[in-house]
Amino acid sequence: MAGVKHWGLVLVVLCIKSLSSLVNGAGNGNDGGLVASFIFGDSLVDAGNNNYLQTLSKANIPPNGIDFKASGGQPTGRFTNGRTIGDIVGEELGVPNYAVPYLAPNSTGKAILHGVNYASGGGGIMNATGSIFVNRLGLDIQIDYFNNTRKQLDRLLGPSEAKNHISKRSIFSITIGSNDFLNNYLLPLLSTGTRISENPDAYIDDMINHLRNQLTRLYQLDARKFVVGNVGPIGCIPYQKTINQLSENQCVGLANKLAMQYNRQLKDLLSELNGKLQGAIFVNANVYDLVMELITNYAKYGFTTASRACCGNGGQFAGIIPCGPTSSLCDDRAKHVFWDPYHPSEAANLIIERQLVYGTTKYISPINLIHLRNL
Ligand SMILES: *[C@@H]1O[C@H](CO)[C@@H](O)[C@H](O)[C@H]1NC(C)=O
Ligand SMILES: *[C@@H]1O[C@H](CO)[C@@H](O)[C@H](O)[C@H]1NC(C)=O
Ligand SMILES: *[C@@H]1O[C@H](CO)[C@@H](O)[C@H](O)[C@H]1NC(C)=O
Repeated sequence: MAGVKHWGLVLVVLCIKSLSSLVNGAGNGNDGGLVASFIFGDSLVDAGNNNYLQTLSKANIPPNGIDFKASGGQPTGRFTNGRTIGDIVGEELGVPNYAVPYLAPNSTGKAILHGVNYASGGGGIMNATGSIFVNRLGLDIQIDYFNNTRKQLDRLLGPSEAKNHISKRSIFSITIGSNDFLNNYLLPLLSTGTRISENPDAYIDDMINHLRNQLTRLYQLDARKFVVGNVGPIGCIPYQKTINQLSENQCVGLANKLAMQYNRQLKDLLSELNGKLQGAIFVNANVYDLVMELITNYAKYGFTTASRACCGNGGQFAGIIPCGPTSSLCDDRAKHVFWDPYHPSEAANLIIERQLVYGTTKYISPINLIHLRNL
């Protein structure tokens, strides 16, 4: 009897072992499944960098974070009620902890092995973007910071293991571009000069050329698995709808038109880089169509509104004054596509994440993020 019992135990242990290696993705090319997530971008994925900057773009005030379990509902600097898309994608891909904000004191030592978050509210592709907020990290600086992390990884793991870790087990996500329109090109006062000297075609060409350079720099630092989000329907956010006094079902045409033009050129850029940069794969996340689908068919996804901000004040869609302690707050946060005048709710982020991780080429191409991880 003792022998039988013993065998039972061995079997259970074996099962658990093979199960956990399945869960961790061992044997599918990514070395035991240790995954790291390096996150670049703007307020859509900022996890607290702006807390450490003197800036007008801040989210470490309640009720931001009210549904963020890891902090017990306290604000963390995330510009939403719960997790960002970056957080949720990381969890789903098996990253053991949320990527630590680069500027946070704990972004040192072993914590960085699972990734670092460089994203900053107000940041853009262009250096001048977001200057209205006084301070923010643009993408050039975010990549300078990754260059620092790159050296720390060399010290932690040794150069050859560090290179392997970055090129095979790490996913680089870039969620940027909205502010280059909203808080640069489309700003009435600041960018008049830019708009006189650059028509939309020239401005978007400029953005794409900068981004080519920025993605190439990441490649030079051994990044190989990339996912680049396109710009969402920025003409449909509560802020734009409110200041332009639109009705429920209208969006601002120019803002969406600029986003779509940029998105077409981004797609071409990523194809170009897929052909040119050997061993790298650039995945295009079609955030525009995904968010547009949520806005158009919101009821189908269990939302009651896609035009009103849950947290905000002013105008017909609570879209003028950013979310803060004195804002009005909706009753059911899971029923709003938009948390505040600019940013999707966690409920919307969860739907977006499912499509990016498991979806088809309609929203994520040429492969989805589960496939990207397992390469
Ligand atoms: C790092 O610190 C932040 C608070 O600043 C905390 O939310 C996070 O859980 C910490 N992460 C790690 C990996 O220690
Ligand atoms: C943007 O700013 C960074 C840091 O200040 C600088 O290294 C970079 O050259 C600038 N890029 C452009 C295009 O001006
Ligand atoms: C990274 O930093 C080093 C200096 O420490 C510099 O020589 C190199 O050009 C940088 N790489 C990139 C891609 O920015």
